[in-house]
Amino acid sequence: MKQDTSQVGEPLAGKPLAGATRTSARPTHPASDTQRLRLYRPSINDAKLGRAMARCLSEAFSSGLWQKTPMPLGAVHEPHSAHGILSGLGPEAIALAAAPDPGNRVVGCVVGCVMQPSTIEGYHLGDYGAQPGDGLLAFIGITPSAQGKRFRQAGDGWLMAQKGAPSLARHLFCGWLAAPGLHDCPRLFIRTRPSIGAIRRLSEDYDFALCGEFETEFRGQRQTRLVYRRDNQRR
Ligand SMILES: CC(C)(COP(=O)(O)OP(=O)(O)OC[C@H]1O[C@@H](n2cnc3c(N)ncnc32)[C@H](O)[C@@H]1OP(=O)(O)O)[C@@H](O)C(=O)NCCC(=O)NCCS
Repeated sequence: MKQDTSQVGEPLAGKPLAGATRTSARPTHPASDTQRLRLYRPSINDAKLGRAMARCLSEAFSSGLWQKTPMPLGAVHEPHSAHGILSGLGPEAIALAAAPDPGNRVVGCVVGCVMQPSTIEGYHLGDYGAQPGDGLLAFIGITPSAQGKRFRQAGDGWLMAQKGAPSLARHLFCGWLAAPGLHDCPRLFIRTRPSIGAIRRLSEDYDFALCGEFETEFRGQRQTRLVYRRDNQRR
């Protein structure tokens, strides 16, 4: 399927964000691992890609500042595991995955959905004006080996590694926003942590406004979540 990543622009001016960090200490991996990637829009029913995305999310959300609260791969009936999270997004799930050629080892993915009342409650978005039918970017994760990598578009959904090009995170974020399933959503929501500078940067670059924050108990740790919202009707 042809992929629409046409909205990925050149990197925007990147001032450091107060209180946020950059991802650091990236492990070195063979260059071939992430030289050439393809973006896919898998359906949540695509079992093979679904398993690969779950592995990617588990790896990403067990690294860096998530090390103390790792995300197990788990199973669909375990709601806080990677498989459980994907299955919990339900039939309205919207995903974008980046995988090298050949094979389906996913190195980065974004998953979200068009929200139902249960999603709004589960993600604590009711206080921020979320309504059924709004979109949620629920998780974006890049495996440590591919974090910080930069790619140029090479046509038909392919990305080629290139210094100075936009980050993989930007391709994924922007490509997910362009998903046809989100076009009718009046609002889009993203939650993140104050120290995750990459997501705060991308949210602000794509016109999300910070609309609040709350404290949550997450895998036994007290953590802060920032809530960003974009009003799609303004666009
Ligand atoms: C969050 C995550 C997807 C970001 O991917 P990444 O490869 O580390 O991101 P990058 O370092 O390439 O940064 C992406 C962009 O944000 C910018 N950025 C990163 N940290 C920044 C900071 N502290 N201040 C300002 N800009 C920042 C980068 O310059 C880059 O911009 P560009 O496209 O204009 O070059 C990845 O680190 C990850 O999977 N982490 C674990 C899971 C996670 O925390 N997910 C997000 C939960 S909300």
